[in-house]
Amino acid sequence: MRIRNKPWAEDELRKNPRVIFGPETKKNISGHWQEFFGNSNPIHLEIGTGKGHFIIEIAEQHPEINFIGFEKVEEVLIYPARYAVEYDKKNMAFIYGDAQFITNYFAPGEVERIYLNFSDPWPKKRHHKRRLTHPRFLNLYKEVLKVGGEIHFKTDNRDFFEFSLEKLSGNGFLLKNITFDLHNSEYAEKNIMTRYEKKWVEMGKAIYRLEAIWTGK
Ligand SMILES: C[S@@+](CC[C@H](N)C(=O)[O-])C[C@H]1O[C@@H](n2cnc3c(N)ncnc32)[C@H](O)[C@@H]1O
Repeated sequence: MRIRNKPWAEDELRKNPRVIFGPETKKNISGHWQEFFGNSNPIHLEIGTGKGHFIIEIAEQHPEINFIGFEKVEEVLIYPARYAVEYDKKNMAFIYGDAQFITNYFAPGEVERIYLNFSDPWPKKRHHKRRLTHPRFLNLYKEVLKVGGEIHFKTDNRDFFEFSLEKLSGNGFLLKNITFDLHNSEYAEKNIMTRYEKKWVEMGKAIYRLEAIWTGK
């Protein structure tokens, strides 16, 4: 079990009205996100939000979309969660939890898009099942994504990227807008940099990116 260094961070998240916290609230939220947000706008989810650079920027650019950040580490989630309250961002919410329990938080078809930004690459073969694009996770995403919904994935790790291309295409997803060098591609202009991405780009690493459509089959 992970040692919690900052119990105050957990307390802070528990009090934050934009955060869905743990088992006591999760039963009531699945199928009820429209009530939470007070509208029927599409729901885009970012799994592994970290300190929230991406979700803050994209939520600012797209007030017509509801963004939910899913993160299992309290010390990082406090930052975007604080921001949402401080700046009264009504199209932002967060789930403090592990993505392996995603189906507890969403009804079938409730999610329109999932962003996976620089998910942990888990390079050792025996750890591949922890990758967020492993079929174990893809099957969960399929339960909550609407048909025609999408996964947008970025990484700096080529092996993880190739693994993801194979697993997505072999599990009912249609791939599009693929690049092996995002920052020298046509997708660069609209790209929103994440914290990790900034770090890798400054080091001169190529960024791999894809979009995958859930076909329903
Ligand atoms: C390498 S960091 C990337 C953070 C951010 N997306 C970025 O690009 O700057 C991966 C993040 O995913 C979170 N994470 C990893 N596995 C997760 C899971 N199963 N459920 C929720 N969050 C997860 C980690 O806690 C960490 O904050």
